[in-house]
Amino acid sequence: MSDPSDASTACESESKPLSNASSAPNTGQIWLDGRLVPPGEATISVFDHGLLYGDGCFEGIRVYNNRIFKLKSHLERMYRSAEAIYLTPRWSLEEIDDAIRMTVAANDLTDGYVRLVFTRGVGTLGLNPFLCKDHTAFVIAADIALYPDELYQNGLPVVVANRRRVPVECLNPEIKSLNYLNNILAKVEAIKAGVLEAIMLNERGEVGECTGDNIFMIKDGVISTPDTSAGMLHGVTRKFVIEEVAPALGHTVVERPHGINEFFEADEVFLTGTAAEVIGVNRIDSTTIGNGAVGPITSSLTAKFREIVQENAPED
Ligand SMILES: Cc1ncc(COP(=O)(O)O)c(C=O)c1O
Repeated sequence: MSDPSDASTACESESKPLSNASSAPNTGQIWLDGRLVPPGEATISVFDHGLLYGDGCFEGIRVYNNRIFKLKSHLERMYRSAEAIYLTPRWSLEEIDDAIRMTVAANDLTDGYVRLVFTRGVGTLGLNPFLCKDHTAFVIAADIALYPDELYQNGLPVVVANRRRVPVECLNPEIKSLNYLNNILAKVEAIKAGVLEAIMLNERGEVGECTGDNIFMIKDGVISTPDTSAGMLHGVTRKFVIEEVAPALGHTVVERPHGINEFFEADEVFLTGTAAEVIGVNRIDSTTIGNGAVGPITSSLTAKFREIVQENAPED
């Protein structure tokens, strides 16, 4: 691949807003604080603490075949993130649900990506969030640039980042805050190593997650994944794989602490995320995983995931 940063990552940050070409009515509409506006009018203040301090939270959501995949789970996580940072949303969960559906419809988006953001709002140049005026909420509907199909066929190489995940006690990675520098700097390590994703360890040296994905392994037919106490975003896709996709294929998933060596010695490794869906890993650093091809259990999970979301993506 010529430039890894061209491809999407599961952090979903590389999706493209829909065109606002005048020949395409109702495209490029952004929902901003209760109104649909064209991208040029969707602006926020330079004094917004979302920009000044990364003070806010967000969600990335997929649309499959006109259905908004796990919208309820994403909204519940959004409101948990907001509560964890003492941000009182001015819009109810139901109103944001409506706003997302309205934006998807206004953009004629049948398959794509939705970004929901709450910023803290306009404040002083000091840190105090409680001096900020009403926070801003916005919804962007976008095309999504997916990993190339070749990576799903042959596997995604990843590295182990030197940079550790922020400890739960400092800023719980469970909060999907606007402050992603910890992940971004690990992502830079991946890009510099010529790959698209990096595994992040916690401060105890256990495996946590990737910069924009959760991680699983398979050894002797047993699927396992770090338990959430390792410090991670509680991925909607991770939960869907544990509770619905794996069981549909007769598998159970064990959640427990993992050392990185277990991943080097695994038969199969795969990542999950809103953008990545379920993608096999074929190499970690210079170690080939299994026989270097995407393994049979991972392939079946990827296929089952796609079958479910394409046929009738659950919105709960
Ligand atoms: C740090 C991190 N971990 C995991 C994930 C996967 O979570 P989900 O499946 O909800 O997209 C993401 C996705 O945004 C992420 O940013």
